[in-house]
Amino acid sequence: METTTSLLDAAAAGDLVLLDPLTEQSLLQTLQERFHRGDIYTYIGNVLISVNPYRPLPIYTPEKVQEYHNCNFFAVKPHIYAIADDAYHSLCDRDRDQCILITGESGAGKTEASKLVMSYVAAVSSKGEEVDKVKEQLLQSNPVLEAFGNAKTIRNDNSSRFGKYMDVEFDFKGEPLGGVISNYLLEKSRIVRHVKGERNFHIFYQLLAGGSAQLLQQLKLRQDCRHYGYLNHESSALSGMDDAANFHAMQDAMRVIGFSPAEVTALLEVTAVVLKLGNVQLSSSFQASGMESCSIAEPRELQEICELIGLDPGVLERALCSRTVKARDEAVLTALSVPQGYYGRDALAKNIYSRLFDWLVNRINTSIQVKPGEQRKVMGVLDIYGFEIFQDNGFEQFIINYCNEKLQQIFILLTLKEEQEEYVREGIQWTPVEFFDNSIICNLIENSTGGILAMLDEECLRPGVVNEDTFLAKLNQLFATHKRYESKETQSARHIMDASLPPRCFRIHHYAGKVTYNVTGFIEKNNDLLFRDLSQAMWAARHTLLRSLFPEGDPQKASLKLPPTAGYQFKASVATLMKNLYSKNPNYIRCIKPNETKAAMLFTPELVLAQVRYLGLMENVRVRRAGYAFRQLYGAFLSRYKMLSTRTWPRWAGSDRDGAEQVLAELPIPAEELAFGHTKVFIRSPRTLFDLERRRQERVAQLATLIQKMFRGWRCRTQYQLMRKSQILISAWFRGHQQKNKYKQMKRSALLIQAYARGWKVRRAYRRYFRSGASACLSNFIYRRLVQKFLVGLGQNLPPLAVLDRTWPPAPYKFLADANQELRSIFYRWKCKKYREQLPPQRRALLQAKLCASELFKDKKSLYPKSLPQPFQGEYLGLTQNPKYQKLNAVAKDKLVMADTVQKVNRASGKTVPRLLLLTKEHLVLADPKAAQPKTVLSLGDIRSVTVTRFSDGFLALHLKETSTGGTKGDFLLVSSHLIELVTRLHQTLMDTRAQALPLHITDQFSTRFQKGDVAVTVVESPKASSDGPVCKKRGSHKMEVLVH
Ligand SMILES: Nc1ncnc2c1ncn2[C@@H]1O[C@H](COP(=O)(O)OP(=O)(O)OP(=O)(O)O)[C@@H](O)[C@H]1O
Ligand SMILES: [Mg+2]
Repeated sequence: METTTSLLDAAAAGDLVLLDPLTEQSLLQTLQERFHRGDIYTYIGNVLISVNPYRPLPIYTPEKVQEYHNCNFFAVKPHIYAIADDAYHSLCDRDRDQCILITGESGAGKTEASKLVMSYVAAVSSKGEEVDKVKEQLLQSNPVLEAFGNAKTIRNDNSSRFGKYMDVEFDFKGEPLGGVISNYLLEKSRIVRHVKGERNFHIFYQLLAGGSAQLLQQLKLRQDCRHYGYLNHESSALSGMDDAANFHAMQDAMRVIGFSPAEVTALLEVTAVVLKLGNVQLSSSFQASGMESCSIAEPRELQEICELIGLDPGVLERALCSRTVKARDEAVLTALSVPQGYYGRDALAKNIYSRLFDWLVNRINTSIQVKPGEQRKVMGVLDIYGFEIFQDNGFEQFIINYCNEKLQQIFILLTLKEEQEEYVREGIQWTPVEFFDNSIICNLIENSTGGILAMLDEECLRPGVVNEDTFLAKLNQLFATHKRYESKETQSARHIMDASLPPRCFRIHHYAGKVTYNVTGFIEKNNDLLFRDLSQAMWAARHTLLRSLFPEGDPQKASLKLPPTAGYQFKASVATLMKNLYSKNPNYIRCIKPNETKAAMLFTPELVLAQVRYLGLMENVRVRRAGYAFRQLYGAFLSRYKMLSTRTWPRWAGSDRDGAEQVLAELPIPAEELAFGHTKVFIRSPRTLFDLERRRQERVAQLATLIQKMFRGWRCRTQYQLMRKSQILISAWFRGHQQKNKYKQMKRSALLIQAYARGWKVRRAYRRYFRSGASACLSNFIYRRLVQKFLVGLGQNLPPLAVLDRTWPPAPYKFLADANQELRSIFYRWKCKKYREQLPPQRRALLQAKLCASELFKDKKSLYPKSLPQPFQGEYLGLTQNPKYQKLNAVAKDKLVMADTVQKVNRASGKTVPRLLLLTKEHLVLADPKAAQPKTVLSLGDIRSVTVTRFSDGFLALHLKETSTGGTKGDFLLVSSHLIELVTRLHQTLMDTRAQALPLHITDQFSTRFQKGDVAVTVVESPKASSDGPVCKKRGSHKMEVLVH
């Protein structure tokens, strides 16, 4: 808001277009007022006026760069950054090549302005390692070129003594890619001569002040400036300029640009040679012929130069002091006079230096040039020497001022003349604004048939006596009536007396003022001749760089054709420059110098007014006020702004003009702001244009969002559709696959069932026709026949019926093996059954007893096998026959089971005594053999168990129940010769009568109970035992040993 007010500030308007009233006075006052406020920048529309403050201002900080980046041109304070930003954005946005024309007097601040533009563009363009390198190289070209091309003049301590046009090239994103620098007319006379109070080019002072002792020694230089003739033997240190520091900065810059150390050394060596050439002194001598000649007064300097450049001193001396003249195909060496010698020396120094400067620019270009093929946009920055009016103006001032005339012409053409012409062409109502058209002056100078430069060239090439007087006479004759040309002669012809115009001078009324040029030196400078001997000597040097600067020195390339004159070359390069500038969109920075003394904040109105006049600022403001700030072809306008109307966006079917009118009609723009020409639309104030731009930007942002939205939607939709399609495809394939599998399975099953069913049906239907059952039938039959045969054969050949005969015929077939085995066992059991059935009852009982004995003793007692052949007789005593046993017989009655004699072991001594033993179905009776009387009668129920040994003895322990009546003396120990039979019968009897098995123990150690307590009996197999029976030995009261064998 504050800045907008600043633009509209009545006392010091930021834009002079807003001045009211518009007079030279008010314009000057505004500039002065602003200058004192520290606002050095002022607009006339989009032309920037910059007044040199001669003091550092805090308006170039990075924050300021940010403030002006993408700024609204008319909404911020006037600033050079705003112009740079506008140009940069036009370049990126509208794809138009730009040029920034910086004009103004020497010391008005052009070079500073160009550096500010460059640094701004570098700061706002994108970043990246490669881009930063390019930017740095572009920026660093300044210190190098300033060191070699700038010098202190009376007007400016850092005056550019050459014109510079730099094209910075950008890619489509606005990233700097590189650039090209063109240089124009270096003021080379400064090398050999400069007026008091000025200096030679900075590099000499920088080298001497900043070069290390070693470097100076290498270059054969002395540190003291006063030693050098070309430096006017003055020290000339400048306040506020540190030559040494600048030298180091320049060296760093060269490194950044990409100069190799060898290149830097070579460059400094050639620079040193130029400086030292100034110290080569000549002295006059006379030849034998009496002709004056010159010679080297002090050979040391020459020798050092030759050492530096690798040349024989004799060659250089000859080239400096003599000259080869070709006469009728003969080369004649003529001696030079001292002044001629000095002329040659100075010409050599100037040529070396100016060619070195060209080489330097080319070398920088090699580093910063853009690779061919890339599409690029260009921003050109022109910083060319300003208009110069000195006391004594020579050829250089003439050339410089010509160049400034041309630039003014561009300005007039583009901003004043062409603009007004365009209004007329387009049929816009227009009151013409008077302005001074300088084409008459340009024509005076450059006209190829009758211009001053053409005349000068003609004079230079003319044979015969050539000097400036003839040249001036020619001019006087040609331009006798020219309004812009004056000389002593033309004035006298017009009867004007003007003491300010000396003889040998002519005056041109430039757009910026009248300048009087002294013609002295015009011819020489225009010819810019260098004796061929000198260029050949330079070419002969071994120093590669120096040698490359003088290609014409190569004797094989020697040509008699004169090189183009300096004026001709300059005119051609200015023409190229103009063509280049016309092809681009111009942006103007018009620099104004506020005072002559380089004083900070001093505003000299007269001086400024002169500049305001010759810069044509008043006309500029008038045209601007009357005219339109912006114009564009309907087509281009429509395509840029058609998005502002829904009727023209996105397509407009009608004509471009109708479309443009439609767009503007829908916007709230006052009618007086617009004008519609035949082919273009005109917009009066920048404010309206800005408003239009702002709306466009907003709309573009909206449209971009819309496009983004549509695109995102489209992308999601297509992606979704693709996924859906894929999903459907996958599931279709999967289902298909599943169904196919199922179908295959069903088909397989159906086929199987079908096959079975068909088979079954067919088999059923055709069974009778088939013989398939025949094999089974046959095999069945055969099988049965075999079985039958086997059984019948077996029946006929049965083995003998003897029970002990276990023979049995083997099975004739393997499949009958099981049956045969079964039959065998059946037959065997049947044989046994038959055998058993025919046995008499006694025999049967006996065998049963034997069987029982086997169950009780088989494999348990070694006596058993011996008992097998002995038949169980039961009655061994003959109770019935022997009357002695009558009583016993009575006891036994019919219930006798067994009667035998046994030995009874005495419980106390272990000795045995014979006893008669009777076993009945109820009792066990022991009787004394002599008395044949029962001694002990034990009920069978009293017998608890029986213990026998494992051996083949007849020992037995009869354990009685404690409650038994017959066993009061305890258990009985007996020895029987029919032990097996006795125990077996006892067991059988118990089973028969009581259905109880006899608990029988067959063991070697057992306990027996006697009346006096338990006795542990141990059976020991011993040979000591008598063959009659076991021997019992009592061991203590509770142990007994039974020895058996
Ligand atoms: N914007 C500025 N701020 C501060 N000082 C400035 C500014 N512009 C110029 N100057 C001062 O003015 C001096 C001269 O400026 P500059 O060298 O740019 O002039 P010029 O127009 O290029 O002159 P010439 O035509 O002689 O080369 C600078 O050295 C600097 O001290
Ligand atoms: Mg400059």
